[in-house]
Amino acid sequence: IIGTGSYVPERILTNRHLREMVDTSDKWIVERTGIRERRIASGEETNVTMGRIALERAIENSGIRCEEIEFLVVGTNTTEPVWPSASGHIANLLGLRKDLPFLDVQAGCTGFNFAFSVAEMFIKAGQYRTVAVIGTDKLSAITDYQDRNTCVLFGDGAGALILKQSMSEGIIRSHLGGNARSRNLLILSKKDGTGNAYIRMEGRKVYTFAKKAMVESCFRVLDPSGTADKKELRTLFEQVTKIIPHQANARIIMGAAEELESRLELPAGEAKNKMIVTIEQYGNNSCASIPLALDISLRTGKLRKGDLVIFVGFGAGLTYAANLVRI
Ligand code: COA
Repeated sequence: IIGTGSYVPERILTNRHLREMVDTSDKWIVERTGIRERRIASGEETNVTMGRIALERAIENSGIRCEEIEFLVVGTNTTEPVWPSASGHIANLLGLRKDLPFLDVQAGCTGFNFAFSVAEMFIKAGQYRTVAVIGTDKLSAITDYQDRNTCVLFGDGAGALILKQSMSEGIIRSHLGGNARSRNLLILSKKDGTGNAYIRMEGRKVYTFAKKAMVESCFRVLDPSGTADKKELRTLFEQVTKIIPHQANARIIMGAAEELESRLELPAGEAKNKMIVTIEQYGNNSCASIPLALDISLRTGKLRKGDLVIFVGFGAGLTYAANLVRI
């Protein structure tokens, strides 16, 4: 990873604002989710405009020229209209190479992890040397602000990074997972009388899935063959500096950390202290959450070059995935 960038809209929607919109309270939201505020895109802002700014910042941060990018992969779920793809719009807006290949990856909130893995494969195969990856979503466009089960959770934003082929250790591997049989737990559904489709979710069931998927994916990315015993797995886990989880709910993140500690017989707090949590200010902004947290962590010194990091995500589909990276 030679550069990162991110963007969040200016408008802040606090728990107090939400209290005026649905039957909820700041206390309930903070206790059950860890979220205090989230960013909401303006009418003109889209996943494309946010993704464009995030990528511009990542390019600047990496010190490369736009023309050096050979391939663009965008994880997103909220392109409107659905085609042409967000990646095409962004490539055009930024004036990337005229013949640049680009594609969108739609895998719910796991879209960033999947997109990252697509980039990883092209780089490892030697097809491209410099690849841009973006995670961007405008969930506010598909959130029903009359549904307290969902509207307190979601926000908007974008994050991007530039990957460059290198002889030193970088992306070690990814683990991708899915559970299509449970796809109905988190869907878009038309609201009566409006014609608009909004997120509908069985929160409890998604919660249980998410916690389990995070633990499973962390283990599988460290031990792809599944043959390591507890002691070996613990040694592998101890080498990990930080984990950047998808920011869906602070309780899911901490619950997964507790589960990791119990399964690996680690001292209390060992996995919790590795978790990077930015949800308090941004809520769940889907594909943006991991690259946004990565950018913030690098800029604030929470992460340094050389750290061994796991990006772990889960989302609609249902899908889940983890990427093990020496940053
Ligand atoms: N404010 C106040 N009360 C609320 C509320 C809100 N915003 N939303 C739900 N409630 C109520 C419920 O109606 C329920 O009331 P009841 O007991 O009278 O039926 C009660 O709070 C408990 O609901 P429950 O669903 O059991 O709460 P929970 O502890 O599971 O927390 C979520 C709810 C949504 C925060 C949690 O299930 C969750 O985070 N799920 C995963 C969501 C997710 O990550 N989705 C995206 C994946 S990418």
